[in-house]
Amino acid sequence: MSERALTIAIDGPAASGKGTLARRLAAHFGLPHLDTGLLYRATACALLDEGRPLDDIPAAVAAARGLALADFDEARLRTRELGEAASVVAAIPDVRAALIDLQRGFAARPEGAVLDGRDIGTVICPAAPVKIFVTASAETRAQRRALELAARGEKVDYASILADVRQRDERDSARSAAPLKIASDAVRLDTTDLDIEAAFEAARDIVLDKLTLAARSD
Ligand code: DC
Repeated sequence: MSERALTIAIDGPAASGKGTLARRLAAHFGLPHLDTGLLYRATACALLDEGRPLDDIPAAVAAARGLALADFDEARLRTRELGEAASVVAAIPDVRAALIDLQRGFAARPEGAVLDGRDIGTVICPAAPVKIFVTASAETRAQRRALELAARGEKVDYASILADVRQRDERDSARSAAPLKIASDAVRLDTTDLDIEAAFEAARDIVLDKLTLAARSD
């Protein structure tokens, strides 16, 4: 990574708004963006397409190794079913290990990059100059997810989406391999009471503050 690379690591729980923020920040700062959740979703999708169980470790590792970023069918990968399945394969340490080089390769662009996920600031890019941990209450996240799924034509039941959100929080935080947790040098951004615009402005200001601090210490 060059000295001037602006690597922005965005982590947070399901439906916290980190994906939207990461996309907006990438557009604002002119950086490429990788939604790393898609890697786990695509791995799970490959297993399901082959009719294999999600705990078939050799098949899951082979699927993870075979991923090509350009091939992703995002509309297919962003379903609720694949979000759940992704959370299961993401708990397999060998699957996570198989996806490290792809993510670090993306992050190592000379100009920098924005990556969002669960372990970007802690494992994938521990030296990233900017780390933001995006949170929101489980109820707010479930409401956002319900609206998003309804907009895509999926059937929506708020109570079961809230249960999914809580179950995914539990699975993503309790696993032993790279659990969801805030990096010690990350800034926490709670978006519970913020709309998208206000959340973006807060995230942008976090990045600008870090850049100002870095410039002062040069
Ligand atoms: O962000 P998402 O909902 O698309 O992620 C789907 C699942 O993938 C999520 O429940 C946990 C897993 N994941 C992960 O473990 N590490 C990442 N960096 C990104 C996603």
